[in-house]
Amino acid sequence: MTLQELTARVSQEFAKTYGRPPRWLVAAPGRVNVIGEHTDYNDGFVLPMAIERFAVMAADRSPDGNDKIWIRSVQSQAPAVLDPAKPLKPFPKGEWANYPAGVLAGFLARGIQPGGLEVLLHSTVPLGGGLSSSAALEVCTATLLEAVTGKNLDPVEKALLCQKAEHEFAGMPCGIMDQFISVMGRENHLLLLDCRSRQTDLVPMNDPSVAILIVNTNVKHELTGSEYPARRKQCETAAKILGVPALRDATADALERAKGNIDDVVYRRARHVIGEIERTIHAAEGIRAGNWPTVGQLMYASHYSLRDDYEVSCAELDAVVEIAESIGIKGGIYGCRMTGGGFGGCCVALVRANVVENITRKILADCKVKTGIDAAIFSSRPAAGATIIKG
Ligand code: GLA
Repeated sequence: MTLQELTARVSQEFAKTYGRPPRWLVAAPGRVNVIGEHTDYNDGFVLPMAIERFAVMAADRSPDGNDKIWIRSVQSQAPAVLDPAKPLKPFPKGEWANYPAGVLAGFLARGIQPGGLEVLLHSTVPLGGGLSSSAALEVCTATLLEAVTGKNLDPVEKALLCQKAEHEFAGMPCGIMDQFISVMGRENHLLLLDCRSRQTDLVPMNDPSVAILIVNTNVKHELTGSEYPARRKQCETAAKILGVPALRDATADALERAKGNIDDVVYRRARHVIGEIERTIHAAEGIRAGNWPTVGQLMYASHYSLRDDYEVSCAELDAVVEIAESIGIKGGIYGCRMTGGGFGGCCVALVRANVVENITRKILADCKVKTGIDAAIFSSRPAAGATIIKG
């Protein structure tokens, strides 16, 4: 479904729910990270792209004139009701209302009052699949509040406001990658983001001979669990032992020299991050040069490092990567790796565009035999970041 088709549908759904057409329509994409995993909170580089899967909101003023914001979702029975008259507090952990609530809190803290709204939300970003459905929802909410109030935030401020919502309302101490790409994605480009300086570089990705495939294992992960914060702590410990502000500043040589003084787990976490930052820079160069076999090798190396050193993969993700390797360059796959936080979710594969259908069939069939899972596969061109479609 194109974005136009999706927004037309959400507009109709709004009219069915609320009995009139929406005054505002906004969308924000999910993302797939091509390479640079678990590097954002180490001040490193990431290389994500926005995908053609979106959180869309349609909205109008509330007819009863009060300041409450009602958000109904086509994916959920219970609406989220946000009342700016009372201090906003997080809802119980796991509730989707936390994402829009956290974003609204950020606007209110800046003295921006949106007033009462009726909203309909429809998201095509798979939930809990490591494709940033939560960042898409946050950025979508922020874009709606911009449209309604006519106050446009600076893109960096907007992404950071959304990250804060995730920290304080959803309880997930994420880095900056997901919100940045959902705000700043560009059609036919990847985004090379320096997570220290927050400088962004668009890397063109418009060679029609290659495609990005996203393989969803449909294994759900829970990143607000203890694993993600534990990884962050281990990285901080490693940086402290190495005497650097962040692992971005450490070298592989310095890590080897310090090996005797570092706990093995912490050592391996640092080895992943230091190697991954280098791989990300090389992959961006490879993409600019259209050197797909090199990019593919870097993607496999990233996966092994996440599997063995960072230990955030799982059996199903490993199986997808093994299947990709067995198909190989001859069969049309340059590289494949797990993407996102890990512990389930998706793999991303770089493939030859003319064999997408064969590869899709083969991966689905082999996955079923190897792991018993029903995976889902789709391809996406790099999409644009959040947009106001109407209003
Ligand atoms: C999650 C977080 C991101 C990033 C990735 C791992 O998606 O939200 O900030 O840390 O995990 O690369």
